[in-house]
Amino acid sequence: AGDAARNADGELAIGGIPVSELQRQYGTPLFVMSENDFRARARAFSDAFNDAFADICGGVDVYYAGKSFLCTAVVRWVEEEGLRLDTASGGELAVAYRAGIPGADVALHGNNKSDGEIHRALDMGLGRIVVDSLDELARVGAIAQGRGEQAKVMLRLTPGVHAHTHEFIATAHEDQKFGLSMAADTTDEAGISASEEAVAAATAHPGIELLGLHCHIGSQIFEPDGFALAAEKLLRFLAAMQEKYSITLPELDLGGGYGIAYTPEDTPRPAAEIANAMAAVVRSTCAELGIDAPRISIEPGRAIVGSTTFTLYEVGTLKTVRVDAPGTSGDGDAGDNVTYPRRYVSVDGGMSDNARPVLYDADYSAVLASRTSNAAPQLSRVVGKHCESGDIVVRDVYLPEDVAAGDLLAVPGTGAYCWALSSNYNYLARPGVVAVRDGSSRLIVRGETEEDLLNRDMGA
Ligand code: LLP
Repeated sequence: AGDAARNADGELAIGGIPVSELQRQYGTPLFVMSENDFRARARAFSDAFNDAFADICGGVDVYYAGKSFLCTAVVRWVEEEGLRLDTASGGELAVAYRAGIPGADVALHGNNKSDGEIHRALDMGLGRIVVDSLDELARVGAIAQGRGEQAKVMLRLTPGVHAHTHEFIATAHEDQKFGLSMAADTTDEAGISASEEAVAAATAHPGIELLGLHCHIGSQIFEPDGFALAAEKLLRFLAAMQEKYSITLPELDLGGGYGIAYTPEDTPRPAAEIANAMAAVVRSTCAELGIDAPRISIEPGRAIVGSTTFTLYEVGTLKTVRVDAPGTSGDGDAGDNVTYPRRYVSVDGGMSDNARPVLYDADYSAVLASRTSNAAPQLSRVVGKHCESGDIVVRDVYLPEDVAAGDLLAVPGTGAYCWALSSNYNYLARPGVVAVRDGSSRLIVRGETEEDLLNRDMGA
């Protein structure tokens, strides 16, 4: 993954550049992203879905979810590979604007868009604003009408599909902040759902052009069933609304959430398999309902950028402790007598550049990158340098026994939601992102300096 291979002398090279060279030039920690790999994954994903849906709706519009990782260089790649862009805030829109992507190819999400963000979306002529609530629908409608315009709107619904993923990244069940409920409102005499109310209101509003419906069931999902079930539910609702209100809803967005492998135990299904499973359900449901299939779109983030990137860290302090073996009482009593060594390998970053282990219990792996070693593998825990014991980069990984201070470790699969979620905890400067391609490298996001951090402190 990530366009990496070992040199003749055993050093890892990413995009053709030895890691020691990358460290010399840019320092560590460092995100190293393969441009070729990004483009290939964007194309592969887009091709898989376009093939699967070609005979149903002429293909699929793929919106890269910028929340996973966004900068102007990436917007350029996305555009050049024929994808569109999904944003989730005014800040992400600002990146899109600076990159020069046409507004028509951009979508805006968010459950609490500010008036300023809505104006910005209209200023940029956005292809779609995904409206999250009845409240927001009224606001978007009023703002657009006030400008003498029509906002192009998709309605985000919660189909009530339970995706098997971490609770905080599962988003289609009822009891959470996103989206319009599809359940009948029992407090309302007509028993009309918030989703239906929104369709009726959007259709009647002079400031709104209702394009269609949207859902997103969660993230890091491996099996296609949840996506297929959500598609079916939305199609049934779409058909009912078309019939009841004599309208056409030409578009249906099925969101993102396609999982990737972080460790060898992870077994995501290939994009083609997911696309085919979804297409089969869309095909049969539309046939059953006797409707023309709407134009389908999707919003993958992680599946495109996640595996394109390594984080490079330099090893510092090492220590070994003895821990209770699995199956023993775990109370640390000498009486158990079954212990094994675990080595703590500290690196020069941590939860400030990868919050996912501490937020979601996420697993990663790591390899010794600056050289190979024939030393025996030793159970190791890679930890960061933050003042927090949960600051773990890789919980359990076998690294050669002779790993020492100054060695470089590479953690694969850090392209999505790592830089994007990075922080300045403990006044660490956020790392830069380097794009590598065919033996050359360039900084696409520069790392912060201590001066950047101090500049915001207004003084005593
Ligand atoms: N569309 C919508 C409406 C979304 O909310 C998201 C992700 C995506 C698309 C893209 O999902 P993806 O294909 O990347 O799974 N920080 C968490 C993930 C949060 C996902 C938020 N929404 C993590 O690191 O696992």
